[in-house]
Amino acid sequence: MAAERTLSIIKPDATARNVTGKIIAMFEEGGLQVVAQKRLHLTKTMAEQFYAVHAERSFYDELVEYMTSGPVVAQVLEGDNAIARNREIMGATNPANAAEGTVRHAFGQNVQENAVHGSDSPENAAKEIKFFFSDIEIVG
Ligand code: CMP
Repeated sequence: MAAERTLSIIKPDATARNVTGKIIAMFEEGGLQVVAQKRLHLTKTMAEQFYAVHAERSFYDELVEYMTSGPVVAQVLEGDNAIARNREIMGATNPANAAEGTVRHAFGQNVQENAVHGSDSPENAAKEIKFFFSDIEIVG
């Protein structure tokens, strides 16, 4: 299996509780390598663009407000089957349904404040990685 890359975001609820390092350790222990990383505070425009696919959903405005409520850590994770592997490590979107040992089980608060985001397909991974990083910022 060739190495694949996915975009990860450690969200404001997790940065607020200072568990960034614990979450990164779970990615690394799960076989993924951090090949790019930055901490930033998303603007409203950035959050709206990043989650444009959810623009018609009832939770969109709240989601944008939450994602701009504090710093996030955006990362590119690399490894075999990285998109699916990262989704296994994160667990279900709603922390109430996330399996024990997953990031969202350990650190998610509710379906919105769910600690992490991960790309859901190769197409979205490519788009989302470009959204945050230029080629020279990704070092495998
Ligand atoms: P994420 O994987 O980043 O993709 C979209 C985000 O929207 C999701 O994680 C949650 O933070 C949020 N979300 C998804 N479903 C709901 C919901 N039913 N209510 C509120 N927020 C949601």
